[in-house]
Amino acid sequence: MDLEDVLYLRRTTRKYQPQQIQEDALQRLLEAAQTAPLAMGDDQSTHLTVVQDPGLLQQIRDAVQTVSRKTGLPLDPLHGAPTLILVSATDLSEDHIELCNAACVIENMSLQATALNLGSSYIWGCLRILRQHKELLAMLQIPEGYEILSGFVVGYPVNPLQRREKQGKMSVNRV
Ligand SMILES: Cc1cc2nc3c(=O)[nH]c(=O)nc-3n(C[C@H](O)[C@H](O)[C@H](O)COP(=O)(O)O)c2cc1C
Repeated sequence: MDLEDVLYLRRTTRKYQPQQIQEDALQRLLEAAQTAPLAMGDDQSTHLTVVQDPGLLQQIRDAVQTVSRKTGLPLDPLHGAPTLILVSATDLSEDHIELCNAACVIENMSLQATALNLGSSYIWGCLRILRQHKELLAMLQIPEGYEILSGFVVGYPVNPLQRREKQGKMSVNRV
């Protein structure tokens, strides 16, 4: 798949099939993560945690689930995806540059996922709640001193990825 196809096929997927992604696909996502640009080339302060254990994923879902304002039904902020990858960092700086690192890591994984015809989504909103669950944080075995900054879910999409039309969304000025 060429880069432009990947860019236009990538979209946030919020409905996943239950089956797990192939181990080879997971390895390719992690390799893509490792090629991300990181401020000052510092690859020691960012850490990835792969969560595929269905029981642990369910515990996370139960802890962070919200309720739909429309239907009153529980909403799964992980969208039913079978794989969650958390990006954590240590030595957080005042200018929050570690968040930028995490976003670069996640975008790389997201583009690689798309190239493998997998669906994916950035995960942010529910992490505020997850950070408060000390027992879950212990089960995630994130190294001492690291804080979860962003998350990423990936899996086989229920609806195949569809190339989007070219469209400008952001304003641009040229001087
Ligand atoms: C920093 C960031 C945080 C996001 N957090 C979430 C999230 O918590 N849950 C979610 O479903 N989507 C999340 N998204 C996905 C955006 O909602 C999505 O990218 C946007 O609606 C545009 O859709 P697209 O990705 O299909 O182009 C996040 C995206 C970014 C960049």
